[in-house]
Amino acid sequence: MGANPQVYSLDDDASEVLRGLTSRPKQLPPKLFYDAAGSILFELITEQPEYYLTSTEQSIFERYAAEMVCAAGNSANIIELGAGSAKKTMLILRAAANIHSPITFTPIDVSSFALELAHQRVRSELPEVVVAPLVLDYTRHAPSLAQTPGQRLVLYIGSSIGNFEPMAASGVLRHLRSSLKPGDALLLGTDMRKPSNILLPAYDDQAGVTARFNLNILARLNRELEANFDLERFVHRAIWNKRDSRIEMHLESIGSQRVRIRSLDTTIDFAPGETIHTENSYKFSPAMIEALALNSGFALEQNWSDERGWFTVTLLRA
Ligand code: AVI
Repeated sequence: MGANPQVYSLDDDASEVLRGLTSRPKQLPPKLFYDAAGSILFELITEQPEYYLTSTEQSIFERYAAEMVCAAGNSANIIELGAGSAKKTMLILRAAANIHSPITFTPIDVSSFALELAHQRVRSELPEVVVAPLVLDYTRHAPSLAQTPGQRLVLYIGSSIGNFEPMAASGVLRHLRSSLKPGDALLLGTDMRKPSNILLPAYDDQAGVTARFNLNILARLNRELEANFDLERFVHRAIWNKRDSRIEMHLESIGSQRVRIRSLDTTIDFAPGETIHTENSYKFSPAMIEALALNSGFALEQNWSDERGWFTVTLLRA
């Protein structure tokens, strides 16, 4: 894909997998969701009627993209972290392309498959935009953004920041800020706290797509680390942890079982009902967004929300 020689593979994360599955409670890092199959399943999740996040954020961009791009300032360099297929990003790119020319778009993602989709989409819908995709785990490696000339606008949307623990989220943003210049802008999307009868179905849709997405992590370990997880013997669970303000996703073992992971030369035992904690998705209050900005050294400039106040996009300044 593209001109980027970097390739991301599960081998880089083998030790994290081993540590996670041998700790108590067992856990796996959510970035493992996004192989080719997982990226397709995530796209499908965003189309489920219960998963309000994407459509709500999209409606905010539809209404305010031009205002956001103006408020961000003179940014012809648009960078997106965890870009996925860049569907919503098109609204920002289109608004920016109306003001500046030429626009450079750098989507960054661990999934080369998702980046290829993003590249294709921009190429066909906005051919005047120069696309320079980067396959990178931005949580580990500082994206070398400093080389791009001019002011930058970074998009970190979809509430992806909510998949980090609060301390780690500040760390990711602090790290990002260190690769930016003063005056560069960040548009941060965050899903807001709301009643559990809205939150839970979003993470346990009727069609079972989120369940397949969660179980795909085990299929990936089977394929890439020669494990023998029986996908029929784990079930998807979504839990609203009100105290910590997060949705948790788990894979629960049906009965006791032993799993062999050949590449790691290890076996993992599961008790009946024991879970692997695969993801946290934090839900924010305005105070949590302010704390995140403060702890990461960004100045909070402006917020845009939908009418129900379910989702917020915040403009932060480096
Ligand atoms: C990517 N991230 C913001 C999604 C979320 O809502 O936390 C991942 C996801 N997990 C289950 N459904 C969607």
